[in-house]
Amino acid sequence: MAILTKAVSVDEAGQLASLHQKCFTDSWGSKEFAELMNNPVVLGLIHTQDKKDIGMALLQTIAGETEILTFGIVPAYRGKGLGYGLLQACVNRAVICGARAMFLEVSSDNHAARNLYSGFGFQQVSVRKAYYADRSDALICRLSLSSASL
Ligand SMILES: CC(C)(COP(=O)(O)OP(=O)(O)OC[C@H]1O[C@@H](n2cnc3c(N)ncnc32)[C@H](O)[C@@H]1OP(=O)(O)O)[C@@H](O)C(=O)NCCC(=O)NCCS
Repeated sequence: MAILTKAVSVDEAGQLASLHQKCFTDSWGSKEFAELMNNPVVLGLIHTQDKKDIGMALLQTIAGETEILTFGIVPAYRGKGLGYGLLQACVNRAVICGARAMFLEVSSDNHAARNLYSGFGFQQVSVRKAYYADRSDALICRLSLSSASL
């Protein structure tokens, strides 16, 4: 089983959008991905297993901090450690980009993602009360990359 994370260009905005649609009910379109990817500080990643696209992430690195803008594994491939592997690939890319810390935002109701992030070492640093449309809180989480290993 070959697992690979590839960096993609704006030309693959449609593939990112297609994966995003499988991961989220409120999904972003290819136009939105293309607009984001046209920013040189934004990096798109597609996670593959045996050459099949099974997950995606979008990272933005500014002034030594990388933010995960979106992140997901398609439903049929969840619960197999692939999310953890994609997160490790995100950290590796952030370190290569010179980031010293990584940030993300997650809904208080998203227990799978919260467990993934806390198990990886992310710590909650802030909360935005009733931030999402469903009134769940947005938890802002941070991972120090000074001790992260490639
Ligand atoms: C969150 C998500 C990326 C996890 O991907 P995954 O490939 O299933 O995760 P993994 O199999 O690598 O699991 C890693 C850890 O995540 C946690 N986790 C994953 N699925 C879980 C679930 N259904 N319930 C509770 N914890 C879960 C566990 O701590 C797990 O570690 P363990 O296997 O040692 O218990 C996936 O569920 C997903 O894409 N969800 C929809 C999109 C989303 O919510 N993205 C995050 C937005 S902030």
